[in-house]
Amino acid sequence: MASVFFLLLAAAASVAHGTDTPVSALASPAMVNCTQVVNYPAGFSPQAPLGCTELKQQIAEEVAQQLESLANASAKIGRCGTTCGPIRHSFRNCQEIKKAGFTENGLYYLDLDGPGHGRPPFEVNCDLATGTTAFTHDSSRDVVVKGKESPGSYVYNVSYEVPMHDIRAVMATAHKCEQWIQYKCYSAVLMKSSSTRYGWWASWDGRPQHYWGGAHPGSDQCACGAAGNCANNATTCNCDNNDAVWRVDNGMLRDIAALPVSAIVLGDTGDKAEIGYHYLSKLTCWHR
Ligand SMILES: *[C@@H]1O[C@H](CO)[C@@H](O)[C@H](O)[C@H]1NC(C)=O
Ligand SMILES: *[C@@H]1O[C@H](CO)[C@@H](O)[C@H](O)[C@H]1NC(C)=O
Ligand SMILES: *[C@@H]1O[C@H](CO)[C@@H](O)[C@H](O)[C@H]1NC(C)=O
Ligand SMILES: *[C@@H]1O[C@H](CO)[C@@H](O)[C@H](O)[C@H]1NC(C)=O
Repeated sequence: MASVFFLLLAAAASVAHGTDTPVSALASPAMVNCTQVVNYPAGFSPQAPLGCTELKQQIAEEVAQQLESLANASAKIGRCGTTCGPIRHSFRNCQEIKKAGFTENGLYYLDLDGPGHGRPPFEVNCDLATGTTAFTHDSSRDVVVKGKESPGSYVYNVSYEVPMHDIRAVMATAHKCEQWIQYKCYSAVLMKSSSTRYGWWASWDGRPQHYWGGAHPGSDQCACGAAGNCANNATTCNCDNNDAVWRVDNGMLRDIAALPVSAIVLGDTGDKAEIGYHYLSKLTCWHR
């Protein structure tokens, strides 16, 4: 019975994807009791429902490389999730998962070099309305900066859930990636005070980046500097006005060669009243 099912899938897959390099992924968590999942693909009506283990194993082993084929079947059988265990597919980004017919936003596994060998699969956040792939980390919140006076003396290393190597591999096929960065400050310089450079961010591979979200790479500006509307037009960041008023500099970073942000480096928070908060969004990528 199962072999009929997989033959159907294989046939569909060979039409859809020909001899594409095999890739893999696992569909993610879901919430249904597997023994109750009997939404089989059209044309396949087993006499008895397949058990969880059987489904998992067969889909993993036999269908792993039959990407598009899996669309209908696994969008349905894929509900098994936590009860059935992960189900293998062949996906390299969320756009592929969207194209395969999945619609439920959430965590999905990607495995760029195929199942069962090479690097292990990793989990990403898929928005299947847009097909975007997102990478989360430990800094999507206001992180306080205080008591670090000298330039660059505060270093926050951003910790991503997915290894940098895999993030960059997904980015390599993206046509756009972006990450939003913010600094809220009170009497604390962000980038520069006269000629002293206090703060910057580091590219994925640790290269210092001297501009902030919303400005051009290497411009030494924040978004307000690029737009010419900073709190003080003698500076190119609101925070560099360095006054006793809450200021904010934020904007989108889009340089695919530099993203994602691996560290946020700051200073000028040594005096009692000086304080800042940095915030960094998840990294979001678009594939065609
Ligand atoms: C799943 O559903 C079956 C059939 O309704 C039931 O016998 C079984 O106890 C359920 N298992 C879980 C973990 O809920
Ligand atoms: C899945 O199959 C159903 C019919 O069983 C069809 O209506 C639907 O369009 C199919 N979806 C995909 C993504 O192929
Ligand atoms: C941050 O990362 C750098 C470079 O990898 C390392 O030298 C430094 O010790 C790290 N700092 C912290 C606070 O983890
Ligand atoms: C800043 O802007 C104000 C108001 O537009 C203007 O009067 C002033 O000359 C500007 N200062 C500098 C340094 O550009």
